[in-house]
Amino acid sequence: MRVIECQSTDEAADLVAHEILAALADKPDLVLGLATGSTPIGVYERLIAAHRERGVSFARVTTFNLDEYVGLAADHPQSYRHFMRENLFHGLDVDPANIHFPPVDGDDLPAACAAYEQAIRDAGGIDIQILGIGSNGHIGFNEPTSSLASRTRLKTLADKTLSDNARFYAEGEEQPQLATTMGIGTILDAKRIILQSFGHKKAQAVREAVEGAVSSFWPASALQMHPSVTFYLDRDSASRLTMRDYYRRVRENELRLGGH
Ligand code: PGA
Repeated sequence: MRVIECQSTDEAADLVAHEILAALADKPDLVLGLATGSTPIGVYERLIAAHRERGVSFARVTTFNLDEYVGLAADHPQSYRHFMRENLFHGLDVDPANIHFPPVDGDDLPAACAAYEQAIRDAGGIDIQILGIGSNGHIGFNEPTSSLASRTRLKTLADKTLSDNARFYAEGEEQPQLATTMGIGTILDAKRIILQSFGHKKAQAVREAVEGAVSSFWPASALQMHPSVTFYLDRDSASRLTMRDYYRRVRENELRLGGH
């Protein structure tokens, strides 16, 4: 696990965007696992800038989003399909046929979720999975007690997730309680995983994920089982880690030895 404490959220976004763009230069048909929420927006802005200003093409890229609410239309302002259009896809040349979201309707949701897993496999698997983390340690909508081997499926959102996200809904507006999400097992199948976390609110979740025991009660702790995970943190999210100095020294050595 690499733990990189950044000076600012801008520095984190620069580093993550650089990592994605370097991977894209190596593999123009990159398969990206994408996240929503406030955390990845800086990275998405940088990818759009790379496309607009430097002509970087995403035409052969395939994307799979982590999760989506059940019960919101695709054009609902809180739907993740809407979020991705507004915050990323509107500014890139990704082929709409290559953009995928977990299924949220139809007669047989479990079969549709299995088909989503198959589509990921058919694309050759996810090369880079972008993640945020919930204040309760969720990744995607894998809430505490999610099986560490789970696959794409329907989940009931935790109280903490509902209260963290309540601010996005108008008074009296119904907030979705259900979502489909890639499972923890699905996420762990990605070849490389990048998790960004910003703010004090996430400090305990980051602590549990990086330095706690592997436990379904803190779903992000499952990332300890993956061979290629990098946490990009701001100081606030890193504030409860006990080995901050060590992570800094590892980073210094990595830079000295020619890492990025
Ligand atoms: P945020 O959400 O990026 O809006 O903080 C992250 C998450 O809940 O996974």
